[in-house]
Amino acid sequence: MQLSVVNGDMATHKTDAAVVNLFQGVTTPGGATGALDRALGGLISRLISDGEIRGRAGEFTLLHTPENAYRNFGPRRVLVAGLGNADKFSLETVRTVAAESVRRLERSGIRKASTIAHGAGLGGLGAEECAVAIAEGTSLGGYRFDRYKSAPGDDTAPMMESLDVIESERGKIAALETGLRRGVVFARAAMIARDLVNEPGNIMTPTEMASQAMKLVGPGVTCIVLERAQVEALGMGAFIGVAAGSPQPLKFIHLTYVGDPTDAGNNLWLIGKGITFDSGGISIKPAENMGDMKGDMGGGAAVIGAMRSIAEIKPRINVHGVVAATENMPGGSAQRPGDVVRSMSGTFIEIENTDAEGRLTLADAIAYAKSKGAVRIVDIATLTGAARIALGTGNGPAFSNSDALMESVLAASAKHGEPFWRLPLDSTSKRQNASKIADIKNTGGRAAGSITAAHFIAEFAGDTPWVHLDTAALNLTDTVRGVYGVGATGIPARTLVQLALDLARQ
Ligand code: BES
Ligand code: MN
Ligand code: ZN
Repeated sequence: MQLSVVNGDMATHKTDAAVVNLFQGVTTPGGATGALDRALGGLISRLISDGEIRGRAGEFTLLHTPENAYRNFGPRRVLVAGLGNADKFSLETVRTVAAESVRRLERSGIRKASTIAHGAGLGGLGAEECAVAIAEGTSLGGYRFDRYKSAPGDDTAPMMESLDVIESERGKIAALETGLRRGVVFARAAMIARDLVNEPGNIMTPTEMASQAMKLVGPGVTCIVLERAQVEALGMGAFIGVAAGSPQPLKFIHLTYVGDPTDAGNNLWLIGKGITFDSGGISIKPAENMGDMKGDMGGGAAVIGAMRSIAEIKPRINVHGVVAATENMPGGSAQRPGDVVRSMSGTFIEIENTDAEGRLTLADAIAYAKSKGAVRIVDIATLTGAARIALGTGNGPAFSNSDALMESVLAASAKHGEPFWRLPLDSTSKRQNASKIADIKNTGGRAAGSITAAHFIAEFAGDTPWVHLDTAALNLTDTVRGVYGVGATGIPARTLVQLALDLARQ
């Protein structure tokens, strides 16, 4: 969709639909909504006093304003979007309203629309940040994954073509343009991640993931893919053990964006779990919803999407993206419960449950990052079903050995409405990972499942500042809500892009 800023006037700008907004409880609309109301002879305020328009969050009222009936009025329709309570107004409201507006307009077959920069006027937010939120919301709300639908169904609406953000104040135009451009780049990171996750496991194999990563190679970005023999030579016994049960060859993907050639130590390593299908292995999962496990590479997908956008924005920092990609399958050569593997770091791991495979691949990916001089590591993984039990789907568990890095990650995630909540790495639950025959075992029992998984990874991060984001409960959704539709969410790709920008040297 084409997003542009137009210096002009909502009431005269010709379009199929003009989107304006209203806070709950407002009886006399102001700003652009007020201007349209006056141009329409008080139609909007009349509907407010009638009680039809109340300004509640999620409320949309479509008014038809055809040219022959409303002379000199540009828009053929006006969509009044409720913003809810003014006290609760935030950038998340802007993203949500933008996303819901696209879906509402598309449902009515509208392809060209105009909108005001929700929040930049009476909402009191900055013009640029509002434009970022509008671009994110519009792009993500309009996202579809329909490549396996041979023909559009009867209920399939055409996609919108363009959205003009109308601004009457000349002084705000530049900031709005910068914001829209930036927002599109953020949204693209999430949409690349969504596409990779939504692809079925028979298509999005480790080999296909590696070739998708290779496509990002360009100015400032390199990609190397280590094959089995090289991974063996590095001693990645934990990663190799997970791959043992699948005929699909493993791929160890390492993307590098060079943003500070003068200082290799100015770096950030993003490590994403890349299990392209998690059957559980010999500790096989139950059949119900097993298909969702095609999304078990969501962390890796977010990293790949983020790397593309980071390379476009070009912050002054070196960012590495690592994905140890493999399937977890129960083939005849699969690893067994009770096996012991030697990880790249030299730590011996007892495999208590082959379904706790993500942490095994992360252990070797982290050891690799450290061997290459990582100073900050953020891993992203659909790691534990327990994440949903602990926090539901509203927040993802976050863990860290560094308050400073944790703070940076939480600040970046808050800016884009991808919420995480820090959980402790307490010494009591750490004991649950103790093995009788090896240095550590890969499961810690039912209690505190997300925490014991994080403890396992922490062992390999050691003293290197590290954050672990467990996205198991955020990766996929089966409801349409805000910027998310059914399927992959792309979380936390936008957070990762923001983090790289925030940590970059000025
Ligand atoms: N990929 C799963 C975690 C998962 C569950 C992601 C649900 C998304 C939705 C992970 O590899 C796994 O199987 N974890 C096990 C760990 C257990 C064996 C200690 C789990 O959570 O049951
Ligand atoms: Mn598993
Ligand atoms: Zn898994």
